[in-house]
Amino acid sequence: MSETTKPSETDRSTDQPARTTNGETDERIRAEWCDYEFDGRAKLAVEDLDVYYGDDHALDGVSMEIPENSVTALVGPSGCGKSTFLRCLNRMNDRIKAASVEGSVRLDGEEIYRDRVDLVELRKRVGMVFQSPNPFPKSIRENVAYGPRKHGDIDTGLLSNLLGRSDESEEEALVERSLRQAALWEEVNDRLDDNALGLSGGQQQRLCIARALATDPEVILMDEPASALDPIATAKIEDLIHDLSTEYTVVIVTHNMQQAARISDQTAVFLTGGKLVEYGDTDRLFEEPQSQRVEDYITGKFG
Ligand SMILES: Nc1ncnc2c1ncn2[C@@H]1O[C@H](COP(=O)(O)OP(=O)(O)OP(=O)(O)O)[C@@H](O)[C@H]1O
Ligand SMILES: [Mg+2]
Repeated sequence: MSETTKPSETDRSTDQPARTTNGETDERIRAEWCDYEFDGRAKLAVEDLDVYYGDDHALDGVSMEIPENSVTALVGPSGCGKSTFLRCLNRMNDRIKAASVEGSVRLDGEEIYRDRVDLVELRKRVGMVFQSPNPFPKSIRENVAYGPRKHGDIDTGLLSNLLGRSDESEEEALVERSLRQAALWEEVNDRLDDNALGLSGGQQQRLCIARALATDPEVILMDEPASALDPIATAKIEDLIHDLSTEYTVVIVTHNMQQAARISDQTAVFLTGGKLVEYGDTDRLFEEPQSQRVEDYITGKFG
């Protein structure tokens, strides 16, 4: 866990609200316990975010700041809006016709919902890894190099060859670096030209992480990245996420409370109705949840 992003342990030791299921107190807990204070810098700042799918109100007035170079876990029952929230952070909801988004999301202080934002550039800075591994039906190498090629970071054109730049070796280095970062290099370095679909599920998911890392993102969004994997592959992904947080800001959705407790620095709990109910230091939240509903959820009484 990164020391810099932890809130002061003593900040909130006094004046704790009584835990109750009473709606009014829930609102008070929301007001007091979603405003997470931390020492580091905010990479993302979300303010009054509402998302509607037609008449369906999927996210209701969510405000939270996400500290940089740390792991933030989003948890909550099915349908509470976790994936919707994650997609707002790189404007993937723009691709869903029925979705309308209101409110503000700032990346390094800049509004991503302003007009004329370059969405390709935004999604390069804020990459995404999905629940099911989705490698392209191409070679392992082509999967990793896909993003940088698309963004023109590796120019394979004639001109650069004439200018004497060796793009091939640049690409080799990038593919190796990304696969190493995703803890997959040792397993695949002798078969980079094999089809990625021949890898196991856990390897495919690490390949997708390598693909996301290859474009040199600053934030990595992960939507239940280990839910389809066995315990060994899951442990590899968890170790990897922990290591990535020294360089990247990771935001991960998980249904696995032990996983959230193990790998995240801070946890945000969403509940039905698309509301953020409690947000804070992971250790504090799991040891001392303030809302009875949050306690019931994280201890498995409902969800
Ligand atoms: N593309 C869509 N079109 C219409 N409604 C949607 C769409 N995506 C999500 N919703 C609705 O928005 C609400 C939140 O969905 P979302 O997928 O964000 O929940 P979630 O917390 O990620 O759930 P799960 O844990 O099951 O993945 C749900 O009521 C869902 O039916
Ligand atoms: Mg989801």
